[in-house]
Amino acid sequence: KKELVITIDGPSGAGKTTVSKTLAARIGYRYIDTGALYRGIALETQERGIAADDEEAMEAACRTIDLRFKIENGDLRLYSGTRDISELIRTPEISMRASAVSALAPVRAFLTVLQRRLGEERSVVFEGRDMGTVVFPEADVKFFLDADTEIRAERRYLELKAKGQDLDFEDVKKDLITRDANDSSRKLAPLRPAEDAIHVDASRIGIDEVVEMMAKVVAEIR
Ligand code: C5P
Repeated sequence: KKELVITIDGPSGAGKTTVSKTLAARIGYRYIDTGALYRGIALETQERGIAADDEEAMEAACRTIDLRFKIENGDLRLYSGTRDISELIRTPEISMRASAVSALAPVRAFLTVLQRRLGEERSVVFEGRDMGTVVFPEADVKFFLDADTEIRAERRYLELKAKGQDLDFEDVKKDLITRDANDSSRKLAPLRPAEDAIHVDASRIGIDEVVEMMAKVVAEIR
């Protein structure tokens, strides 16, 4: 069997995380959530009091931040040094800050190198915004997962609610729209489908069906 690099890009709340995790488990691949890395940088630099637009300070900070993934009880956890930051990075504040710092060249350069290193062993499903366009332009299979704004906002709202965060639906929706606009309009590695990406619209089909369809595509190439 061929060892593939699979990328799944798309806007917030399209279901990328569930789809990527499920697909990876199903085909015995590792799963890497690259958004978590941007969130990790956002959290660490926030705690150090660095302004999100201070490019020089952000660049220096990146050199001292040690992010790594660990799998615990089948769960992908993110560590900064010895500290498990998996929960801390899932707040609306960090979402927005991640989107801001992800527009900076030194941050993208730093994480692109890290992500390519994680892809060296292949057999990985990478979830993100620029996996198929910038980080792995030569990926074997590229998907672009999208869904209607209303549905994505609802999914994100329910997700946060399940985590015990008491938020207003309209706020969640507004945040999601702002973040996608930021991510799509930035100069570096904007959110967009790779030319050779397979588009999947998850608005009217369930996650299971999406995974089913992706697994079929992957099986044909392997
Ligand atoms: O996927 P997630 O919502 O966790 O990503 C948080 C933010 O990190 C995104 O809004 C985006 O700005 C940034 N990101 C990115 N490139 C990636 C993954 C995430 O710019 N490959």
